[in-house]
Amino acid sequence: MSGKARKPSNPWPSLGGGALIAPSLLACDFARLGEQIDAAAAGGADVLHVDVMDGHLVPNLSMGPPVVKSVRRHTDRPLDVHIMVTDAAYYVERFAEAGADSITFHIEVADEPVRLAERLHALGLGAGVTLKPGTPAEALKDVIPAVDLVLVMTVEPGYGGQAFMHDMLDKIAQVRGMLTAGQRLEVDGGINPETAGLCAASGADVFVAGENVFGSPDIAAAIRALRRAAAR
Ligand code: DX5
Ligand code: ZN
Repeated sequence: MSGKARKPSNPWPSLGGGALIAPSLLACDFARLGEQIDAAAAGGADVLHVDVMDGHLVPNLSMGPPVVKSVRRHTDRPLDVHIMVTDAAYYVERFAEAGADSITFHIEVADEPVRLAERLHALGLGAGVTLKPGTPAEALKDVIPAVDLVLVMTVEPGYGGQAFMHDMLDKIAQVRGMLTAGQRLEVDGGINPETAGLCAASGADVFVAGENVFGSPDIAAAIRALRRAAAR
């Protein structure tokens, strides 16, 4: 247990250049969550990706503020919270209090995305925006100047262990063209060394991986293999 309650801290400006690896806790054995978090942290995880699902925006339920609070107390790794909820604006303070360092919301359900990003920054958090495979990159044009990160979903959100959608590679390149140098481009869904390499070549620099990391008998080796493949 190395974490302690602390103020949220926007991780993205301070995490240096190069590929960042974000293991997704959704793939963990929740009966051994602390142990698996420690293995990922010891294995070099840059941030921990936390999938919040409301059974409404996506057809699955996962974890809420109480789990984030426990994870926060257990680790000092930055928590990259991906909220797949219809009413993101209602939950940001709750996840900030629970210990999130960055929150990424879906553009498909954000009425005032720029204001939401500004609220996240006012709380000291990182701000990210994400889009489902069917949503065009143009939907982001107004909010991009206000965020630290864009997350391009490379599977339909809702479940781990799905196959990578290769037709998202063009969208990744398009989004990279819309970002400034300091902004991050995260990919999420079906990421393994082969697909991480393809995404890196298209402009991604943050790689979420669930099954590929926590489904591996050697979590540290899996993280090293992703970092090698994603290095440009
Ligand atoms: C899916 C989630 C992903 C998922 C990734 O909706 O947003 O973060 O956990 O899992 P893998 O890497 O197994 O596809
Ligand atoms: Zn996710």
